[in-house]
Amino acid sequence: MAVGAENMGNVKRQLVQLFGVSLRATVPSETDVAPLVDACIAKSGVRFGDYQCNNAMGLWSKIKGKQTEFRGPTAVGQAIMKNLPPSDMVESCSVAGPGFVNVVLSRNWIAKSLQKMLIDGIDTWAPCLPVKRAVVDFSSPNIAKEMHVGHLRSTIIGDTLARMLEFSHVEVLRRNHVGDWGTQFGMLIEFLFEKFPNPEDVNEAAIGDLQTFYKASKVRFDSDPEFKQRAQQAVVRLQGGEDTYHRAWKQICEISRTEFHRVYERLGIQLEEKGESFYNPYIPGVLEELNKKGIIEDDKGARVIFVQDVNIPLIVVKSDGGYNYASTDLAALRYRINEEKAEWIIYLTDVGQQQHFDMLFKAAKRAGWLPADDGSYPKATHVGFGLVLGEDGKRFRTRSTEVVRLVDLLDEAKNRSKTALLERDTAKGWPEEEVEKTSQAIGYGAVKYADLKNNKQTNYTFNFDQMLNDKGNTAVYLLYAHARICSIIRKSGKDIEEVKRNAKIALDHEDERALGLHLIQFSEVIEEACTNLLPNVLCEYLYNLSEIFTKKFYSNCQVVGSPEESSRLLLCEATATVMRKCFHLLGIVPVYKI
Ligand code: ARG
Repeated sequence: MAVGAENMGNVKRQLVQLFGVSLRATVPSETDVAPLVDACIAKSGVRFGDYQCNNAMGLWSKIKGKQTEFRGPTAVGQAIMKNLPPSDMVESCSVAGPGFVNVVLSRNWIAKSLQKMLIDGIDTWAPCLPVKRAVVDFSSPNIAKEMHVGHLRSTIIGDTLARMLEFSHVEVLRRNHVGDWGTQFGMLIEFLFEKFPNPEDVNEAAIGDLQTFYKASKVRFDSDPEFKQRAQQAVVRLQGGEDTYHRAWKQICEISRTEFHRVYERLGIQLEEKGESFYNPYIPGVLEELNKKGIIEDDKGARVIFVQDVNIPLIVVKSDGGYNYASTDLAALRYRINEEKAEWIIYLTDVGQQQHFDMLFKAAKRAGWLPADDGSYPKATHVGFGLVLGEDGKRFRTRSTEVVRLVDLLDEAKNRSKTALLERDTAKGWPEEEVEKTSQAIGYGAVKYADLKNNKQTNYTFNFDQMLNDKGNTAVYLLYAHARICSIIRKSGKDIEEVKRNAKIALDHEDERALGLHLIQFSEVIEEACTNLLPNVLCEYLYNLSEIFTKKFYSNCQVVGSPEESSRLLLCEATATVMRKCFHLLGIVPVYKI
């Protein structure tokens, strides 16, 4: 049977296609049965196959009342198996329990798939998603306020989601929705005028730390009513577009930006800033539209939108007539759907903002911007993540200051990994540049991986010793595993490109087969991680790959000097290739030497 090009390299989808044919032949009366295919999970160490089709039981309960030739779910399972079109991917099938159809994949087919990937490149294994363009709204710190570890989580998780979607042929608009607008700017600007009567004197060095500057201006604001009044007028003058105020605002934003970029640069993060201020001119029109649709109501002097199942309304115009976070987000959502034609809009913030987004999306549904049903597009999704905790179990803070400067945090990770690296004999003779590059890859990689491997909903504890451990489920362990595979290939003295062209993979040993099977599951894992926006699924896959390679394959199958050397070198190369793609998707720079 011909496989659609879009499903090449995606085992699960290819099986879905096969079972689809079989299901239509088995129960022609049921026209829209979606094949339920899953990789088999071992139960007490036993697995009946590599994949299973789970349709028989559900189908049976649908057809049992009607006239049917079948006697029970097992018979339905048997018929599904019998009607499976011949395919060179399947070695054998069996029916187990109440009608599960188990499939054992052909070793030969697995081997061929791997060989094809080695020649054509791993991009041929990219999954196809049902969206063409997505907005990922991530990082999004606030000007002059602290860029905290929560923003670091948003930055790391958002970047990985963007990378996975991009790999899957989605055009991603990476949006930094920075908080660059709002009443706090009146206070900041007045304070700036006071400190620097001459605008030429304003620069990063003079202002120093903007967070401290923010705090000082807040103290001034709270203690001096006359200053407060000036600050409030400053907001009006800024919003009215008065030149000096606008210039001061830009200066403050620019200084914040420089600080954010230090973080992005270290982490290799690409983002396009469209801050809150960008959407400000669109707000009146959007509210007008919602007003005409009769969605906006008066509520205690404010203008609000009521949404389903929430007992408080979404405030869109405050009682003083000003706009807020929600009005900006409404305008931004409208813009993303209408102007940018995004089919999927993904927001990353801590779970604390869950209700805001729930209400925002419900309001958009009331307005008819988003379809009522979550399965259709355009679609908006909030990815909420848990808090970052310190080792004391409380919100993460360092001892010395009450806030954690992200740049310092990243530098510490790098410096610690540098110390650890220099303690290894192998790294002693390395040129300084290589030490630097490797410790950056390991240090930043460790911070990212520690964050990504968690289920994003849960709080996670930030712990340098744990994340920089070279054993266990850490980036360090994985990067070393990759480097070790590269060194096996180097030691063989073979030109791997030539081996790719001339040798074939054979999966005769059961651990070779286990490794091969895990490798060809890459595409479906990425698809799942993208569909459910779960980077930890990819981390788990990568960790298991490394474990299967090390504990099964490499422990039991001699590579260099064995009769199977060429085939096994290709398996090493395929493993390294998949690992590198995983690293890339997780935003981690691979290392080749340890
Ligand atoms: N600036 C916000 C914060 O720090 C996050 C913005 C998230 N994006 C959005 N479109 N609301 O909490």
